[in-house]
Amino acid sequence: MYFDPAPKEKKEDLFNFEEEYLALKRAFKRYNLIAIKGLRRTGKTSLMRVVFNEIEKPKCFIDSRELAPYTPHQTYLYILKKIEESTTSIFEKILGRITEIEVGITLKIEREMLAKVLENINKKSEFYLFIDEVQLLKRARLDEFLAYIVDRYKNIKIVISGSEIGLLDEFLGEEAASPLFGRAKKIIDIKRLTPPQSKQFLQKGFEQAGIKISKEEIAQAVNELDGIIGWLTLYGFYRIEEREALEKVKENASEMVKKEIEAFLKNRAQAKNRYIAILEALSQGAKSWKEIKTYLTIKEGKRIPDIRLATYLKTLRNYGFIEKKGGYRLTDPLIKEALR
Ligand SMILES: Nc1ncnc2c1ncn2[C@@H]1O[C@H](COP(=O)(O)OP(=O)(O)OP(=O)(O)O)[C@@H](O)[C@H]1O
Ligand SMILES: [Mg+2]
Repeated sequence: MYFDPAPKEKKEDLFNFEEEYLALKRAFKRYNLIAIKGLRRTGKTSLMRVVFNEIEKPKCFIDSRELAPYTPHQTYLYILKKIEESTTSIFEKILGRITEIEVGITLKIEREMLAKVLENINKKSEFYLFIDEVQLLKRARLDEFLAYIVDRYKNIKIVISGSEIGLLDEFLGEEAASPLFGRAKKIIDIKRLTPPQSKQFLQKGFEQAGIKISKEEIAQAVNELDGIIGWLTLYGFYRIEEREALEKVKENASEMVKKEIEAFLKNRAQAKNRYIAILEALSQGAKSWKEIKTYLTIKEGKRIPDIRLATYLKTLRNYGFIEKKGGYRLTDPLIKEALR
Protein backbone atom coordinates (compact mmCIF):
# COMPACT_ATOMS: atom_id res chain seq x y z
CA MET A 1 0.00 0.00 0.00
CA TYR A 2 1.60 3.26 -1.13
CA PHE A 3 -0.75 5.47 0.89
CA ASP A 4 0.03 4.05 4.28
CA PRO A 5 1.46 7.10 6.10
CA ALA A 6 3.85 5.09 8.29
CA PRO A 7 7.39 4.57 7.00
CA LYS A 8 7.44 1.64 4.60
CA GLU A 9 8.83 -1.72 5.74
CA LYS A 10 8.66 -3.86 2.60
CA LYS A 11 10.25 -3.41 -0.79
CA GLU A 12 6.93 -3.95 -2.55
CA ASP A 13 5.54 -0.84 -0.82
CA LEU A 14 8.50 1.26 -1.89
CA PHE A 15 7.83 3.28 -5.00
CA ASN A 16 10.71 4.18 -7.31
CA PHE A 17 13.65 3.75 -4.93
CA GLU A 18 15.44 1.08 -6.93
CA GLU A 19 18.59 3.13 -7.42
CA GLU A 20 18.90 4.25 -3.79
CA TYR A 21 18.03 0.79 -2.59
CA LEU A 22 20.79 -0.76 -4.71
CA ALA A 23 23.26 1.99 -3.84
CA LEU A 24 22.76 1.30 -0.15
CA LYS A 25 23.11 -2.44 -0.54
CA ARG A 26 26.20 -2.07 -2.69
CA ALA A 27 27.76 0.47 -0.35
CA PHE A 28 28.05 -2.16 2.39
CA LYS A 29 30.78 -3.85 0.36
CA ARG A 30 33.05 -0.82 0.30
CA TYR A 31 32.13 1.49 3.14
CA ASN A 32 31.46 1.11 6.80
CA LEU A 33 29.84 4.51 7.16
CA ILE A 34 26.87 5.39 5.01
CA ALA A 35 24.65 8.43 5.34
CA ILE A 36 21.21 8.88 3.85
CA LYS A 37 20.61 12.52 3.11
CA GLY A 38 17.37 14.05 2.04
CA LEU A 39 14.89 16.74 2.87
CA ARG A 40 12.07 15.96 5.23
CA ARG A 41 9.50 13.44 4.07
CA THR A 42 11.46 12.23 1.12
CA GLY A 43 11.58 8.63 2.32
CA LYS A 44 14.83 8.21 4.27
CA THR A 45 13.35 6.13 7.07
CA SER A 46 11.41 4.01 4.58
CA LEU A 47 14.54 3.21 2.60
CA MET A 48 16.44 2.35 5.77
CA ARG A 49 13.66 0.16 7.17
CA VAL A 50 13.24 -1.80 3.95
CA VAL A 51 16.96 -2.52 3.56
CA PHE A 52 17.36 -3.19 7.27
CA ASN A 53 14.56 -5.76 7.19
CA GLU A 54 16.34 -7.61 4.39
CA ILE A 55 19.70 -7.93 6.17
CA GLU A 56 20.31 -11.44 7.36
CA LYS A 57 23.31 -10.64 9.52
CA PRO A 58 23.23 -9.41 13.13
CA LYS A 59 21.76 -5.93 13.15
CA CYS A 60 20.20 -3.21 15.24
CA PHE A 61 17.98 -0.24 14.36
CA ILE A 62 17.93 2.80 16.56
CA ASP A 63 15.43 5.62 16.18
CA SER A 64 17.12 8.41 18.05
CA ARG A 65 13.83 10.17 18.69
CA GLU A 66 13.05 7.44 21.19
CA LEU A 67 15.96 8.56 23.31
CA ALA A 68 16.21 12.24 22.46
CA PRO A 69 15.62 13.61 25.95
CA TYR A 70 18.19 11.20 27.37
CA THR A 71 21.43 12.27 28.94
CA PRO A 72 24.64 11.18 27.20
CA HIS A 73 25.00 8.54 29.89
CA GLN A 74 21.57 7.07 29.13
CA THR A 75 22.20 7.29 25.40
CA TYR A 76 25.10 4.84 25.46
CA LEU A 77 23.26 2.61 27.88
CA TYR A 78 20.26 2.59 25.55
CA ILE A 79 22.38 1.68 22.53
CA LEU A 80 24.01 -1.12 24.50
CA LYS A 81 20.62 -2.45 25.52
CA LYS A 82 19.28 -2.24 21.99
CA ILE A 83 22.26 -4.14 20.66
CA GLU A 84 21.79 -6.73 23.33
CA GLU A 85 18.10 -7.12 22.48
CA SER A 86 18.66 -7.35 18.78
CA THR A 87 21.58 -9.73 18.59
CA THR A 88 21.37 -13.48 18.56
CA SER A 89 22.77 -16.00 20.98
CA ILE A 90 26.22 -15.92 19.35
CA PHE A 91 26.75 -12.71 21.20
CA GLU A 92 25.31 -13.69 24.52
CA LYS A 93 28.68 -14.04 26.16
CA ILE A 94 29.89 -10.68 24.98
CA LEU A 95 26.71 -8.95 25.83
CA GLY A 96 25.88 -10.62 29.10
CA ARG A 97 28.07 -8.15 30.88
CA ILE A 98 25.90 -5.25 29.86
CA THR A 99 23.23 -6.22 32.30
CA GLU A 100 25.77 -5.60 35.01
CA ILE A 101 25.84 -1.93 34.21
CA GLU A 102 24.35 0.13 36.94
CA VAL A 103 22.81 3.51 36.66
CA GLY A 104 25.28 6.08 37.87
CA ILE A 105 28.25 4.65 36.08
CA THR A 106 30.25 7.31 34.27
CA LEU A 107 29.76 8.05 30.60
CA LYS A 108 33.33 7.17 29.86
CA ILE A 109 32.86 3.63 31.13
CA GLU A 110 29.69 3.10 29.10
CA ARG A 111 31.28 4.38 25.98
CA GLU A 112 34.21 2.09 26.54
CA MET A 113 31.85 -0.78 27.18
CA LEU A 114 30.00 -0.14 23.93
CA ALA A 115 33.30 0.13 22.07
CA LYS A 116 34.41 -3.15 23.59
CA VAL A 117 31.18 -4.86 22.61
CA LEU A 118 31.55 -3.64 19.05
CA GLU A 119 35.18 -4.69 19.01
CA ASN A 120 34.19 -8.22 20.01
CA ILE A 121 31.35 -8.36 17.52
CA ASN A 122 33.71 -7.10 14.83
CA LYS A 123 36.00 -10.07 15.39
CA LYS A 124 33.21 -12.56 14.81
CA SER A 125 30.82 -11.19 12.28
CA GLU A 126 29.54 -8.30 10.26
CA PHE A 127 27.16 -6.17 12.26
CA TYR A 128 24.75 -3.57 10.91
CA LEU A 129 23.92 -0.58 13.05
CA PHE A 130 21.26 1.77 11.68
CA ILE A 131 20.71 5.08 13.45
CA ASP A 132 17.86 7.27 12.26
CA GLU A 133 17.76 10.98 13.16
CA VAL A 134 21.33 10.68 14.33
CA GLN A 135 21.85 14.43 14.70
CA LEU A 136 19.87 14.22 17.93
CA LEU A 137 22.74 12.26 19.44
CA LYS A 138 25.39 14.84 18.80
CA ARG A 139 25.01 16.01 22.37
CA ALA A 140 26.18 12.59 23.49
CA ARG A 141 29.18 13.06 21.18
CA LEU A 142 28.16 10.08 19.16
CA ASP A 143 29.97 11.54 16.14
CA GLU A 144 33.22 11.21 18.01
CA PHE A 145 32.32 7.71 19.05
CA LEU A 146 31.34 6.65 15.52
CA ALA A 147 34.60 8.06 14.15
CA TYR A 148 36.42 5.79 16.58
CA ILE A 149 34.37 2.75 15.49
CA VAL A 150 34.62 3.52 11.77
CA ASP A 151 38.41 3.77 11.98
CA ARG A 152 38.90 0.48 13.77
CA TYR A 153 36.15 -2.02 13.09
CA LYS A 154 35.62 -2.73 9.43
CA ASN A 155 32.88 -5.31 10.05
CA ILE A 156 30.66 -2.80 11.77
CA LYS A 157 28.52 -1.19 9.10
CA ILE A 158 26.90 2.02 10.20
CA VAL A 159 24.00 3.64 8.38
CA ILE A 160 22.87 7.03 9.60
CA SER A 161 20.29 9.51 8.47
CA GLY A 162 18.63 12.66 9.60
CA SER A 163 15.96 15.07 8.54
CA GLU A 164 17.36 18.16 10.23
CA ILE A 165 19.81 18.47 7.45
CA GLY A 166 21.94 21.28 8.82
CA LEU A 167 22.58 19.23 11.90
CA LEU A 168 23.25 16.03 10.01
CA ASP A 169 25.77 18.00 8.02
CA GLU A 170 27.46 19.06 11.21
CA PHE A 171 27.38 15.52 12.50
CA LEU A 172 28.94 14.17 9.32
CA GLY A 173 31.83 16.53 9.69
CA GLU A 174 31.94 18.95 6.82
CA GLU A 175 34.06 21.11 9.08
CA ALA A 176 37.67 20.09 9.62
CA ALA A 177 37.22 20.27 13.39
CA SER A 178 34.44 17.64 13.42
CA PRO A 179 35.26 14.11 14.53
CA LEU A 180 33.89 12.50 11.36
CA PHE A 181 35.71 14.88 9.04
CA GLY A 182 37.77 13.10 6.40
CA ARG A 183 36.36 9.61 7.01
CA ALA A 184 35.50 7.67 3.89
CA LYS A 185 31.75 7.66 3.73
CA LYS A 186 29.08 6.94 1.18
CA ILE A 187 26.41 9.59 0.93
CA ILE A 188 23.11 8.55 -0.57
CA ASP A 189 20.98 11.47 -1.62
CA ILE A 190 17.27 11.01 -1.70
CA LYS A 191 15.64 13.20 -4.29
CA ARG A 192 12.12 14.33 -4.79
CA LEU A 193 9.98 12.64 -7.40
CA THR A 194 9.76 14.18 -10.85
CA PRO A 195 6.27 15.25 -12.02
CA PRO A 196 5.76 12.09 -14.13
CA GLN A 197 6.91 9.96 -11.18
CA SER A 198 4.55 11.81 -8.83
CA LYS A 199 1.67 11.25 -11.23
CA GLN A 200 2.49 7.58 -11.50
CA PHE A 201 2.78 7.28 -7.74
CA LEU A 202 -0.68 8.78 -7.19
CA GLN A 203 -2.27 6.77 -10.00
CA LYS A 204 -0.88 3.52 -8.67
CA GLY A 205 -1.75 4.41 -5.10
CA PHE A 206 -5.38 5.19 -5.94
CA GLU A 207 -5.50 2.03 -8.00
CA GLN A 208 -4.34 0.03 -4.96
CA ALA A 209 -6.99 1.76 -2.85
CA GLY A 210 -9.59 0.96 -5.50
CA ILE A 211 -10.83 4.50 -6.04
CA LYS A 212 -11.01 6.71 -9.10
CA ILE A 213 -9.68 10.26 -9.01
CA SER A 214 -9.94 12.57 -12.02
CA LYS A 215 -6.87 13.30 -14.15
CA GLU A 216 -7.32 17.00 -13.39
CA GLU A 217 -7.22 16.51 -9.66
CA ILE A 218 -4.14 14.32 -9.88
CA ALA A 219 -2.45 16.90 -12.10
CA GLN A 220 -3.22 19.61 -9.57
CA ALA A 221 -1.84 17.60 -6.67
CA VAL A 222 1.31 16.77 -8.65
CA ASN A 223 1.72 20.41 -9.53
CA GLU A 224 1.30 21.72 -6.00
CA LEU A 225 2.97 19.06 -3.88
CA ASP A 226 6.09 19.11 -5.95
CA GLY A 227 7.40 15.60 -5.74
CA ILE A 228 7.63 15.28 -1.97
CA ILE A 229 6.63 11.67 -1.48
CA GLY A 230 5.55 12.20 2.12
CA TRP A 231 3.06 14.89 1.09
CA LEU A 232 1.83 12.83 -1.84
CA THR A 233 1.33 9.86 0.48
CA LEU A 234 -0.56 11.96 2.99
CA TYR A 235 -2.68 13.51 0.25
CA GLY A 236 -3.54 10.04 -1.04
CA PHE A 237 -4.31 8.84 2.45
CA TYR A 238 -6.71 11.74 3.16
CA ARG A 239 -8.18 11.72 -0.34
CA ILE A 240 -9.46 8.20 0.05
CA GLU A 241 -11.93 9.66 2.55
CA GLU A 242 -12.33 13.37 1.88
CA ARG A 243 -12.32 15.89 -0.95
CA GLU A 244 -10.43 18.69 0.82
CA ALA A 245 -7.30 16.59 1.12
CA LEU A 246 -5.06 18.82 -0.99
CA GLU A 247 -5.76 21.96 1.05
CA LYS A 248 -5.15 20.07 4.24
CA VAL A 249 -1.73 18.89 3.11
CA LYS A 250 -0.70 22.18 1.48
CA GLU A 251 -1.25 24.23 4.59
CA ASN A 252 1.69 22.45 6.14
CA ALA A 253 3.93 22.46 3.09
CA SER A 254 5.21 26.04 2.86
CA GLU A 255 5.74 26.13 6.60
CA MET A 256 7.83 23.00 6.28
CA VAL A 257 10.06 24.52 3.59
CA LYS A 258 10.58 27.59 5.74
CA LYS A 259 11.73 25.42 8.62
CA GLU A 260 14.04 23.54 6.26
CA ILE A 261 15.73 26.72 5.16
CA GLU A 262 16.04 27.94 8.72
CA ALA A 263 17.60 24.66 9.81
CA PHE A 264 20.06 24.85 6.95
CA LEU A 265 21.07 28.41 7.74
CA LYS A 266 21.32 27.90 11.47
CA ASN A 267 24.62 26.10 11.13
CA ARG A 268 25.96 28.46 8.53
CA ALA A 269 25.84 31.73 10.36
CA GLN A 270 28.80 33.22 8.54
CA ALA A 271 27.59 32.57 5.03
CA LYS A 272 23.89 32.92 5.87
CA ASN A 273 23.31 36.12 3.93
CA ARG A 274 25.12 34.76 0.92
CA TYR A 275 23.01 31.62 0.87
CA ILE A 276 19.85 33.70 1.13
CA ALA A 277 21.09 35.97 -1.65
CA ILE A 278 21.71 32.97 -3.90
CA LEU A 279 18.22 31.61 -3.26
CA GLU A 280 16.80 35.07 -3.90
CA ALA A 281 18.73 35.39 -7.12
CA LEU A 282 17.31 32.08 -8.33
CA SER A 283 13.79 32.94 -7.25
CA GLN A 284 14.09 36.11 -9.32
CA GLY A 285 15.07 34.19 -12.39
CA ALA A 286 18.88 34.10 -12.34
CA LYS A 287 20.10 30.87 -13.90
CA SER A 288 23.73 31.07 -14.86
CA TRP A 289 26.83 31.22 -12.68
CA LYS A 290 27.45 34.72 -13.97
CA GLU A 291 23.97 35.99 -13.13
CA ILE A 292 24.14 34.56 -9.64
CA LYS A 293 27.56 36.03 -9.09
CA THR A 294 26.47 39.46 -10.29
CA TYR A 295 23.47 39.42 -7.96
CA LEU A 296 25.67 38.40 -5.05
CA THR A 297 28.32 41.00 -5.81
CA ILE A 298 25.74 43.79 -5.91
CA LYS A 299 24.10 42.56 -2.72
CA GLU A 300 27.38 42.24 -0.81
CA GLY A 301 29.09 45.24 -2.29
CA LYS A 302 32.17 43.17 -2.96
CA ARG A 303 33.41 40.30 -5.07
CA ILE A 304 32.94 36.77 -3.81
CA PRO A 305 35.81 34.43 -4.79
CA ASP A 306 34.73 31.82 -7.35
CA ILE A 307 35.83 28.99 -5.11
CA ARG A 308 33.48 30.24 -2.39
CA LEU A 309 30.55 30.57 -4.73
CA ALA A 310 31.24 27.07 -6.03
CA THR A 311 31.11 25.75 -2.45
CA TYR A 312 27.83 27.54 -1.69
CA LEU A 313 26.21 26.22 -4.85
CA LYS A 314 27.48 22.73 -4.24
CA THR A 315 26.18 22.74 -0.68
CA LEU A 316 22.78 24.05 -1.76
CA ARG A 317 22.68 21.31 -4.37
CA ASN A 318 23.73 18.62 -1.90
CA TYR A 319 20.79 19.57 0.23
CA GLY A 320 18.28 19.66 -2.55
CA PHE A 321 17.42 23.35 -2.41
CA ILE A 322 18.74 23.93 -5.90
CA GLU A 323 19.57 21.80 -8.87
CA LYS A 324 21.59 22.23 -12.02
CA LYS A 325 19.83 21.36 -15.21
CA GLY A 326 21.32 23.47 -17.92
CA GLY A 327 21.26 26.43 -15.51
CA TYR A 328 20.71 26.54 -11.79
CA ARG A 329 17.21 26.60 -10.36
CA LEU A 330 15.23 26.11 -7.18
CA THR A 331 13.96 22.58 -6.69
CA ASP A 332 10.76 23.74 -5.09
CA PRO A 333 8.57 26.75 -5.87
CA LEU A 334 7.64 26.93 -2.20
CA ILE A 335 11.17 28.11 -1.40
CA LYS A 336 10.28 31.37 -3.08
CA GLU A 337 7.30 31.79 -0.75
CA ALA A 338 9.29 30.72 2.27
CA LEU A 339 11.92 33.38 1.53
CA ARG A 340 9.33 36.12 1.92
N1 LIG B 1 9.45 5.11 -1.82
C1 LIG B 1 8.29 5.30 -1.17
N2 LIG B 1 7.17 4.69 -1.63
C2 LIG B 1 6.01 4.89 -0.99
N3 LIG B 1 5.84 5.69 0.08
C3 LIG B 1 6.91 6.30 0.57
C4 LIG B 1 8.19 6.13 -0.02
N4 LIG B 1 9.08 6.87 0.66
C5 LIG B 1 8.38 7.47 1.63
N5 LIG B 1 7.09 7.13 1.59
C6 LIG B 1 6.04 7.67 2.50
O1 LIG B 1 6.34 9.05 2.71
C7 LIG B 1 6.23 9.42 4.08
C8 LIG B 1 7.57 9.87 4.59
O2 LIG B 1 8.44 8.78 4.56
P1 LIG B 1 9.63 8.58 5.59
O3 LIG B 1 9.15 8.79 6.97
O4 LIG B 1 10.28 7.32 5.23
O5 LIG B 1 10.52 9.81 5.13
P2 LIG B 1 11.68 10.54 5.91
O6 LIG B 1 12.55 11.15 4.88
O7 LIG B 1 12.28 9.61 6.90
O8 LIG B 1 10.86 11.66 6.66
P3 LIG B 1 11.32 12.52 7.93
O9 LIG B 1 12.27 13.51 7.37
O10 LIG B 1 10.05 13.13 8.41
O11 LIG B 1 11.96 11.58 8.89
C9 LIG B 1 5.66 8.20 4.76
O12 LIG B 1 4.28 8.34 4.75
C10 LIG B 1 6.07 7.03 3.87
O13 LIG B 1 5.17 5.96 3.96
MG1 LIG C 1 12.55 9.69 8.92
